[in-house]
Amino acid sequence: MKTQIRPLRAAILTGLFSAVIAMPAPLIAAPNPCAPKVNPCAAKNPCAAKNPCAANPCAAGNRIDPTLVTRPKGTKPYKGNHKELAKEGEKLWNSAKLSGPGTISCASCHTGGAMFQSSFAKPYPHQVQMAVDNAGMKSITLEEMVQFCMVKPMQTKPFAWDSRELAALTAYAADVQKTFKPGKATANPCVANPCAAKNPCGAKNPCAAR
Ligand code: HEC
Repeated sequence: MKTQIRPLRAAILTGLFSAVIAMPAPLIAAPNPCAPKVNPCAAKNPCAAKNPCAANPCAAGNRIDPTLVTRPKGTKPYKGNHKELAKEGEKLWNSAKLSGPGTISCASCHTGGAMFQSSFAKPYPHQVQMAVDNAGMKSITLEEMVQFCMVKPMQTKPFAWDSRELAALTAYAADVQKTFKPGKATANPCVANPCAAKNPCGAKNPCAAR
């Protein structure tokens, strides 16, 4: 942080200095705060580079094929002991290796109930906004939702429909659902750019043209 502020401050000081030198005597007392060199808002928006939502995997418009995430007729889920599967599922939930880029896990988005909307508290199948928006699916099961998040936010392939991994992750997600309280649901942090509000050069730039 500091290292980023320093060059800006140095630029302002240099700007002030040269502005002062260039000014006719009567103006020295009040250098024009809107002169390009002095205007701290002329410098690059410090938030631009750091916007974590620049490559927003949640953004709408990125349609996915509903047949990729709909259990095919005649296929059966892997059957096993719920507790054992959930234990394995918890490891998968926390593993970034599952994702296409290898950098995000289910936990990156969903820890503490994050990104889940109030629909998550309802019994499955139910409507999930993202599945409506991106695949036109009006209703979805929990395991299909696991597949959906594999394809969309995790940017990879869905699991085989009879795989132990899909059963494990679904079992763990069911346990997560049991402890979920809709009131705690946090909004999708990618919807509102967290930098927008804090951009010191945004709304109140006194130098902006009127
Ligand atoms: C980049 C963020 C992100 C990642 C990573 C992610 N999800 Fe999601 N997940 C979302 C969003 C956004 C929603 C949709 C919320 C909505 O529209 O209601 C969602 C919804 C869900 C839902 C359905 C909630 C409901 O209302 O029924 C489940 C279950 C789920 N995710 C499981 C997973 C699993 C399992 C993984 C890992 C394989 C995962 N998610 C990875 C962002 C993510």
